[in-house]
Amino acid sequence: MSHFIHNAPYYIAGSTPTALRKPRGKLLELSDLSHFLLGADTPQELMEDATQHIVEILGVDYCKIILLETNGHYYTRAAYYRNYIVVRNQANLPEGKAVEKLFNNVLDGNKLFTLNADEKGLTVEERLSLGLNSVSRVCILPMCVESNRIGVVVIGDGLGFSMDFQREDTRYLIDLITDQLSNAIHRSRINQQLENLSLETVLALSKTLETRDIHSGLHSKGIAELSEKVAMKLNCSPKEVREICWASLLHDIGKIGIEDSILRKPGPLDEMEWERMKTHPEIGAKIVSEISGLESLAPMVRSHHERIDGKGYPRGLKGDEIPLGGRILAVVDSYCAMTEGRVYREALKHEAAIQELINGKGTAYDPLVVDALIEVLSM
Ligand SMILES: [Fe+2]
Repeated sequence: MSHFIHNAPYYIAGSTPTALRKPRGKLLELSDLSHFLLGADTPQELMEDATQHIVEILGVDYCKIILLETNGHYYTRAAYYRNYIVVRNQANLPEGKAVEKLFNNVLDGNKLFTLNADEKGLTVEERLSLGLNSVSRVCILPMCVESNRIGVVVIGDGLGFSMDFQREDTRYLIDLITDQLSNAIHRSRINQQLENLSLETVLALSKTLETRDIHSGLHSKGIAELSEKVAMKLNCSPKEVREICWASLLHDIGKIGIEDSILRKPGPLDEMEWERMKTHPEIGAKIVSEISGLESLAPMVRSHHERIDGKGYPRGLKGDEIPLGGRILAVVDSYCAMTEGRVYREALKHEAAIQELINGKGTAYDPLVVDALIEVLSM
């Protein structure tokens, strides 16, 4: 992005290339692309929208992103044909052998390669794969980040639009776009790997709690399913929904720090035992805050027994002082606890539990969260 801003006068004051008929417009489109690439939620979303942006910015007929996967084969992940169609992920269809060889050569040389529709020696499938059935020429661009081979971008023109790929300013624009895209895909893949690693940690911790206290483990899974739906109902972003779901799985993880004599006591707890039990949200928050990738869950884990009126524990937070995830957890946890029952008390019926939540609106519970849960349960 900073590279782009630094070079901005190049586009405004320099000669006007074919692809830059409206320099200021192109600047805005490039800026949009940069913002988009930084903000996309998933690699797939990033690539699908990037193909469309590239067609519009470069003024070509089509764009396709083909990634080199760890099995050594290339797969089309997204394609956009101007005013025609968006092709989504084609995970199970690797490219043909000759095309893969061509892509390997492009990545080895790390420079663009053009191919005309009258090129000899390509099969029908390979022509289709490159888009040469619908455009008169394609340009294959390498995507690398340092020594990491990401894949190629194929752009095609010659129907309604054409570019001079040999022009220095056009090449500069193409390099800038593929640079941004390669980095964004690389970053997105690393984030995905980190996310998978974090999920594995969450599941391992959740399993640990289940081993120690089977009831808490199973209870957490039920809460996670409901919390996820409530968070979606409250229009949380995909990232927030994921974090709330993970926090739900781990909300009682602090119980692994509570003695068996209290944790497994079959009857109600006495005052001292209860005070000890009330430390589990802080213990849980400390555990997750010390695990890389799970730090953001700590405030939700810590606040799942807080009340809107400030009479909860451990900190007596009020209203919006309690993070939304904590407010969702409080409502869903209470509903599940009431309807599941315990050794020392019977389970409430669904209607009675809902009535308890309604009675607690604005005192124990966030009214919006209660309404969202009722709606989710009625679906
Ligand atoms: Fe709890």
